[in-house]
Amino acid sequence: MSRASRTSRPHGLVALDGATTAAAPGKVWLVGAGPGDPELLTLKAARLIAAAGVIVHDGLVSADILAMAAPDARLIDVAKRKSRHTLPQDDINRLLVAFALQGLDVVRLKGGDPFIFGRGGEELEECRAAGIACEVVPGVTAALAASASAGAPLTHRGLAQAVTFVTGHAAHGEPVLDWDHLARANQTVVIYMGLSTAGLIAARLMAAGRDAATPALITVNASRADEARYPTTLGALATTAEGLSGPALLIVGEAMGLAVSNSILPACGVGYPAEQGGGGSAGLAGKTGPQDFAAGVRAAPSTALRAVPLPATRGGRSL
Ligand SMILES: C[S@@+](CC[C@H](N)C(=O)[O-])C[C@H]1O[C@@H](n2cnc3c(N)ncnc32)[C@H](O)[C@@H]1O
Repeated sequence: MSRASRTSRPHGLVALDGATTAAAPGKVWLVGAGPGDPELLTLKAARLIAAAGVIVHDGLVSADILAMAAPDARLIDVAKRKSRHTLPQDDINRLLVAFALQGLDVVRLKGGDPFIFGRGGEELEECRAAGIACEVVPGVTAALAASASAGAPLTHRGLAQAVTFVTGHAAHGEPVLDWDHLARANQTVVIYMGLSTAGLIAARLMAAGRDAATPALITVNASRADEARYPTTLGALATTAEGLSGPALLIVGEAMGLAVSNSILPACGVGYPAEQGGGGSAGLAGKTGPQDFAAGVRAAPSTALRAVPLPATRGGRSL
């Protein structure tokens, strides 16, 4: 059976009303799939994916990772993208419980980490309320991948004493955030789901006192073959975000200035090749001014290392 037909198979066997069978309940695994690169999966996540009979996944789980599932595994896409919900969160919660009540072990595969803007907490609570065993397997959240591939640490001595993850998603007009706190210098602010609110976020941060020249970075598709990085400044954040699409992070903070100056990275397989105009020739000692970040350099994908097959599951460990 083709992968496409597997993913489109209806899940009519599961009763969302919580009907039970005589079978002992199964277990739900909330598994972080990381930002996309299969090599950023934990070994535990890879083992669970390969062994799973049922995988309920969201839209940010990459095709490469889904391809690691067993050929006869049942893959259910409950993709939720802003304004394009295919299954409401309540139904996802109930679906997981319904599978478990039918005696099935379920891998709930989520992009990044299940507990970072992933609504994993709600799914865990639902399982707990239904008496279903649920275990969480952490994943590499997108911020860590974006920071690593850009060579721009989220915390950095002298430049960033703290890092804060916030959502830019605005359910009711604009995100409710503590702008005064986020506007303080020498800290990194990572904004998830902020592409469409980039202008608003930048304006709020600057109005609260954050310098417009503060380095910033937008990374689209972090860790994937089509990763694109756009070094910029807070003042130019909205302009840089214009026309971009795909899962993206906005990262604001003094340490993002290192994204283009750390030319040692290409030797490690990631970073900005000098010929791409990403500042790679500046050298370790080369300090790039804020005006250079404002140029909105489009960096080459960080794909020097390709995925290799992960070790096979050993010891016959079951889900
Ligand atoms: C619902 S949140 C899920 C976050 C996920 N749980 C995590 O830990 O990365 C979705 C948002 O995460 C960010 N994101 C997820 N994967 C990404 C990637 N590969 N590159 C850039 N941003 C990503 C984007 O801001 C996207 O809109």
